[in-house]
Amino acid sequence: MNDSSPIITIDGPSGSGKGTIAKRVAGLLGWHLLDSGAIYRGLALSVSKSGADGDDENTVLALCESMNLVFSADSRDESILLNGEDVSQELRAETTGNMASQLAAIGSVRSALLDTQRRYRLLPGLVADGRDMGTTVFPAAELKIYLEASATERAERRYNQLKQKGLSANLANLKKEIAERDERDANRAVSPLRPADDAVVIDSTQMSIDEVVSRVLQLAHSCGVCDSIPD
Ligand code: C5P
Repeated sequence: MNDSSPIITIDGPSGSGKGTIAKRVAGLLGWHLLDSGAIYRGLALSVSKSGADGDDENTVLALCESMNLVFSADSRDESILLNGEDVSQELRAETTGNMASQLAAIGSVRSALLDTQRRYRLLPGLVADGRDMGTTVFPAAELKIYLEASATERAERRYNQLKQKGLSANLANLKKEIAERDERDANRAVSPLRPADDAVVIDSTQMSIDEVVSRVLQLAHSCGVCDSIPD
């Protein structure tokens, strides 16, 4: 870990577009990217693939230690390996997201994954996306964004995303599942989904991806984490 590398955190509910925005901003700045949701999703897959009982806290904690999740170093390549197996498609399934959200409500699991997430802080900088990047994992981040969008818009975005990846999706079910997941994420006792006190809240319902990316880059420039705004 390098303590002097700057951090931009992008938190928000499911389907708010934070993953897409974080990836674009990291690519334009030439910074590292942390998709923290993929770590919770990787844990969910580790539990289901090993046949472990997700309610057995000690077993889940042991899997936090032993799982080997590898993201591709090339930002254009979305492949993710879990213990050597390509799980990129399974990782994005809504069932995996739901199981991740259940495991993510366990306080000891969140603590066990803190160091794993903080290790992504490397020069020249890190863009970290998730639910508690600005509140818990990187509370001293230079710039904190909280990305929102209406529930309908978020369900539609997630639906299109799943379809594009060739995964099956049903819009009505998706709306229900996303609502349940957000409810659980926002009401859990440890690190609930909420904007950090010093976060800039952006409602992206009526904004294009390009507009959100340029807003984040302008904010990054005005708070001094980048010298110029990349095109
Ligand atoms: O962002 P994504 O949909 O991949 O996250 C899956 C789940 O992992 C979320 O619903 C949430 O419960 C959990 N999560 C979390 N904290 C994070 C990132 C994800 O609790 N920083």
